[in-house]
Formats: sequence, C-alpha cells, structure tokens
Amino acid sequence: MTNLPNVTFEPADSSLEGTVVVLAEEKFVLPNRAAQLNRQSRGQIKRAAGIADFKGESGRCLDLLAPNAAKIDRLLIVGVGEARRLDHDGWVLLGGRAYAELAARKIDVASIVLELKNRRVDSKSVAAFGLGMLLRSYRYTKFKKPNDRRPNKNAVRPASIRIVCRTHRAAGKAFAAEHGLADGVFLARDLVNEPANTLGPAEFAERACELEKLGVVCESLDEAALEDIGMGALLAVGQGSARPSRVVVMRWTGTGRKRVRPLAFIGKGVVFDTGGISLKPAKGMEDMKGDMGGAAAVVGLMHALAVRRVPINAVGVIGLVEKMPSANAQRPGDIVTSLSGQTVEVLNTDAEGRLVLADLLWYTQDRFKPKMMINLATLTGAIMVALGQEYAGLFSNDDKLADRLAKAGHDTGEKVWRMPLDPAYDKEIDSKIADIRNIGARWGGAITAAQFLQRFVRDVPWAHLDVAGTAFASKRSDINESWASGFGVRLLDRLVAEHYQD
Ligand code: BES
Ligand code: ZN
Ligand code: ZN
Repeated sequence: MTNLPNVTFEPADSSLEGTVVVLAEEKFVLPNRAAQLNRQSRGQIKRAAGIADFKGESGRCLDLLAPNAAKIDRLLIVGVGEARRLDHDGWVLLGGRAYAELAARKIDVASIVLELKNRRVDSKSVAAFGLGMLLRSYRYTKFKKPNDRRPNKNAVRPASIRIVCRTHRAAGKAFAAEHGLADGVFLARDLVNEPANTLGPAEFAERACELEKLGVVCESLDEAALEDIGMGALLAVGQGSARPSRVVVMRWTGTGRKRVRPLAFIGKGVVFDTGGISLKPAKGMEDMKGDMGGAAAVVGLMHALAVRRVPINAVGVIGLVEKMPSANAQRPGDIVTSLSGQTVEVLNTDAEGRLVLADLLWYTQDRFKPKMMINLATLTGAIMVALGQEYAGLFSNDDKLADRLAKAGHDTGEKVWRMPLDPAYDKEIDSKIADIRNIGARWGGAITAAQFLQRFVRDVPWAHLDVAGTAFASKRSDINESWASGFGVRLLDRLVAEHYQD
C-alpha cells in the first residue's frame, strides 16, 4: 500500500513559512491571510497575478518564488472559481489538484491555508480537501523495486502537509474518518491494479480475509463447499481454470446485534476474463485483469466500514473465478443449473459475470435476508457504449434506492445513471431449451444483462451497478493517477452514511 503523506491541522493564525498554498476566488478575490501577504509584499502578489492574467479561475494556479513577504519561500495560489459552487466533490477535487501542483514541483513540505473570502470553510470541507489529497497521492508501487540510482522513486511527495484553518480541531477529527475511507479506496485500487498471475481466486480470498484484523468475520468457501451449496452457474465459469474458484463472505456486525438484517454488497470477481472458449480478441485483453473491480470495491467498502466502526450490519459477498479456455472449459451451448434451480443456456462463454452474480444474488438473499442488496460488476462493454467512462450504469427494482444512489453519486463524484429494467426485454433472454439464455440479441447489451440478473432477485430492494467503464482505465483525474479507480467505495460509503447509519 502507498505511503500516505502526513497531514496535520493548525489554527488559522499559525505562522507561515517555506512553501505556502492559498486559495483565490474568481476576479482574484483573496481571503484574509493571502491579502495580508499581498500587503506585506507591497502588492507584489496582485501584480504577479495581473501579469499572468490569473483571476482565480478554477483549475488554474499561480506560482510565485521568493515573494517579499515574511519567511515565505514560495507562494502557490490555487484558483477555485466561484466559491459558492464548491460542494463536497468540489473540495475533494480541489484537494487533489493542490496536491498535484505540489507534487509536480517536487515540493516536500508545505502549508496550505484553507480559507475563502466569500464563504466559511467548515471542517467537513477541510476534511474533503484532505481526502482529495490522499486520493491523489496514491501510487501502485508493488512491482517497482527501488534501485540505487533512484532510491526515493517510490516515496510520497509532498510527504508532509500542514493545513491551516479556522476549525482545525474539528477538521482533524473529520479527516480521521476520511482517512479510513481513503484506505478502503486504496485497497480496492491495489486489488484492481494487481495482475492476475499473482492475484488468483485463492490469493484474492486471502487478501479479503485480512479484514478479520478489523473485526470482519470472513468465510472462504472452496469448490467442494460451493458444490454442496449448489452454485452450478458460478462453478461452470471457473471450470476451465487450473485455479479453483472461491466465494468469500465478509460480515461486519457494527450494531453489535447479529439478528439485525444486514445491508448486502455483492461483487463480480473474475480475476481474469479471457472470454473462455468464446475467446476475446488479443488487443486490450490485458485490461481484463481488472474484471474483479466489483469484488475489489466490496472489499474496499467493508474495510472502510470496519475501520470506522460504522454502527450497521453489512455483509459482503464476492465470487472469485478465473475465466480460461481449456480442455475443461465450458462450451457455448452448455446448459448449467444455477443455485436458484433455473437452468441457463450459455450461448457465449464470455458473458460469464452474470452467471457468477446469479448464484451470489440468490445465495445472499436466501441466507442473509438483507434489507437491501447492491451488486457491483464490470459486466458489459455495452454500458461503456451507452455511458462512456464518466457514469456507471444503475439498474434497480426500487425507485427509492435508485434515487439515493444517484444522489450519493452526485455528491461523491462517483456518478451513476439509471437505465431501464422492463419485462419487455425478457424475450431477449428466453431460451428455447433452458429457462434462460445468457445473451440477448445485438442491442441493449447492458440492459439484457441486468434483466438476466433480475431473474435471480426476489422481493428485496436491489440495485445493480455496471462499472465496466468506471472501475479502471479512465482518463487521469484530479484525484487519481493510477489505472484502477476504486470506483464504488466512496459511493456506497456515502449511501450508508446518509441513509442507513443510526
Ligand atoms: N468483463 C466483460 C465486460 C467488460 C468489457 C468489462 C470491457 C470491462 C471492460 C464481460 O464479461 C464480457 O465479456 N461481456 C461481454 C458480453 C457479451 C458476450 C454479451 C461484452 O460486453 O462484450
Ligand atoms: Zn466476459
Ligand atoms: Zn467479465
């Protein structure tokens, strides 16, 4: 895991020296301390901004070396645009951007003054800013060995940040919670970034079971157990692999009462998806090491909930399989019997995620009678055709749950867009010789996949998030430089915090 920068919080009147970061609003409105520095420097700061035509626009930054102000070596002025537009997500992005500006200049130690002229900066905003910095500091270095020439290649930079703000005590507390969340996101990113040769089903299960340290009760079900249970659909996906499938159940009993019905989170964990006998083309196939992004998000979320000792009951269920072509692999046309008893005609072995989820959904509702259940899966290329890489697809049988997810997505920046479920699509997945077929005709592939999943859901509020476009390989963002995003951890953590806590 990444070394995190050390962040401390100090009162608004702390002395400033070395490298200092301040914020500027549009029309170059400077808050208190920054205006003070401008006066000390006899207007040097405003003059520099005028020369650079910098007006505090969001996304821009002004760098002043050796300003004539007190003990300051360097002043970085980060534009925020219109202050009243800064919501939670805005603060997170701003933190990421400020961190990136410091990192780009190889600055090791900095003080950041978080104040605005036209708006009080509360402790939640400061904590959100801090979260953005942490998220941006993530790097995946497991396979980068430090060498003699560049011993510090893997060190975090900046390593030490002092945040100067009005509410430094409350901000420090709020930040501690965000720290646990960032750890969860990093865990998800680590799992998604790791290649499949070192992260097979057994290794993934082991990593998930490390949550035991945090008080999460973990069960790792092996193939014999899965056969006993009757997970024929899931097992058929992994039958072509030399590495046996696993299902891991993670239970967090934050209420202290086992009888309280849990929230359930379910993840597709295909450690590598070659497509099987319906083999994928070579180009870009390496991305399919990330086909366990849903399961990774579930593990990251359970980590975040447990670290913060969130007072709810939650259960995470992940299906870990490897989709390989081999002499034992499933064939197109095979018919498998799922745990629900429904038979599935497998017309394309590459539509494997839905087979894994079918059994997990059935198992979870049967065993845990959850209050609601949400599954995450890198399920279809079709969702990327529909929504690109900005929004995840949201399918739900429950309007209230869907609205809550959409709102949590808006607030965290992990955005979701609702797509339809409709019995009219059912004819696409009706099979002539089995109960269901695993692919529809050409169009609406993300919808027919969701419609397939719904056949394994009974009367429980349920949502399916198709994260194929958002779990990895997005363009670089302010809060992530690595391939894996950890998408889903912050979204679901927010959903829980807003609607299910206390
Ligand atoms: N894992 C893939 C979906 C995927 C594609 C995720 C690209 C992330 C990026 C899934 O198992 C798959 O192969 N789906 C097929 C379904 C088709 C055969 C009906 C697809 O989307 O092409
Ligand atoms: Zn596939
Ligand atoms: Zn897949």
